[in-house]
Amino acid sequence: MSQAKAYRAALLHCLADPSQVSVEQSYEYFEDGLLVVEDGKIAHIGNATDLLQTLPAGTEVIEYKNALITPGFVDTHIHYPQTGMIASYGEQLLDWLNTYTFPTERAFSDKAHASEVAEVFLRELLRNGTTTALVFGSVHKESVDAFFEQAEKLDLRMIAGKVLMDRNAPDYLTDTADSGYADSKELIERWHGKGRLHYAVTPRFAPTSTPEQLALAGKLYKEYPDLYMHTHLSENRKEIEWVRELFPEQNGYLDVYDHHGLIGARSVFAHGVHLCDDECKRLGETGSAVAFCPTSNLFLGSGLFDLENVEGHGVRVGLGTDVGAGTSFSQLQSLNEAYKVMQLQGKKLDPFKSIYLATLGGARALYLDDRIGNLQPGKDADFIVIDYKATPLIDYRLKQANSLEERLFALMMLGDDRAVKETFAAGRSVHRKAD
Ligand code: GUN
Ligand code: ZN
Repeated sequence: MSQAKAYRAALLHCLADPSQVSVEQSYEYFEDGLLVVEDGKIAHIGNATDLLQTLPAGTEVIEYKNALITPGFVDTHIHYPQTGMIASYGEQLLDWLNTYTFPTERAFSDKAHASEVAEVFLRELLRNGTTTALVFGSVHKESVDAFFEQAEKLDLRMIAGKVLMDRNAPDYLTDTADSGYADSKELIERWHGKGRLHYAVTPRFAPTSTPEQLALAGKLYKEYPDLYMHTHLSENRKEIEWVRELFPEQNGYLDVYDHHGLIGARSVFAHGVHLCDDECKRLGETGSAVAFCPTSNLFLGSGLFDLENVEGHGVRVGLGTDVGAGTSFSQLQSLNEAYKVMQLQGKKLDPFKSIYLATLGGARALYLDDRIGNLQPGKDADFIVIDYKATPLIDYRLKQANSLEERLFALMMLGDDRAVKETFAAGRSVHRKAD
């Protein structure tokens, strides 16, 4: 048993989806709160004045002024090999893949290179307050070993997988249906369920896998308990057309995945920008999730995600950055752009729904809401300290704010990594911003 530690600041966490309950019922807020952490888990949360009296003598209390503690952010879709090619100019999805992505991912056959990038990537996530992510590796199994080794060192809750890709990509970047299956299996045996790590079977997207490979991916997804399935779906119109040509027997994009046994609990589909109602319904009834990736959808000109319609069909929706097509590691910046995506459709995204999507909603999309996503006792102590004085403008703007809602919204519009003062994973400080 490690000695308990307590953290004193304003505290905010979500209890439910504000679309399902009233906004007031969806969160808990303590203006002067205390978070007590023991053995990497949340032990207590409440008002500081009440809880301080109950702490054993000698418990260390760390106090943050002008700060807000929230759960760590959950990123439901991101590519670590694309860290070095973020912000690459001028293309939409298919040309962007050929021009920038595939050549960049080639280098991940080299384990040393992969380790170096994984370290930069994880540092960047933690600087931005993201403590859990669902992560694409490259086609090389070394890339996933490198990633998990770095994540394990920091005791992070992370999900990742080797890309499966056996056609319509350069020779240097393809596996085969059989080798992809065998390599994935080896990685699952090595990493799935080790500490806080989980494995995701990761076919890149339908166009880069043969039906044989998709079938073997479906087999694998069913072979192990609690395995994830992670891919892309209906992001770009040309991509959707291409899927129709490649799979004429199937009734559309989602049906390709469905036909190969790739949908269900713990399956996560990035984007879903152009889904029809039948597809949303099928995703909802199978317990599948969609990752809403606003910065990526705007950057690649993919389109505007219809959050209300997708959620309205019972689909679990999380927020994704989709770096390197996404332009920021920051979930605050993703929420900034999510708000604009909604505005362009004549809809709103309120600050409490936003914070839900970045925390408990993401955890629920990943079936991890029993372990992370809020600060209830017993959950992993993955939390962040947001700095109300992060920049002169944030400081000035927040001084004019009259409510928590207004402060939150301003933080989402103006904040990024600079707003994250400190990040904790399993109760340990894993990032602290220089003063
Ligand atoms: N579809 C297939 N591969 C990718 C990728 O790497 N990024 C995005 N945004 N979409 C994809
Ligand atoms: Zn992606």
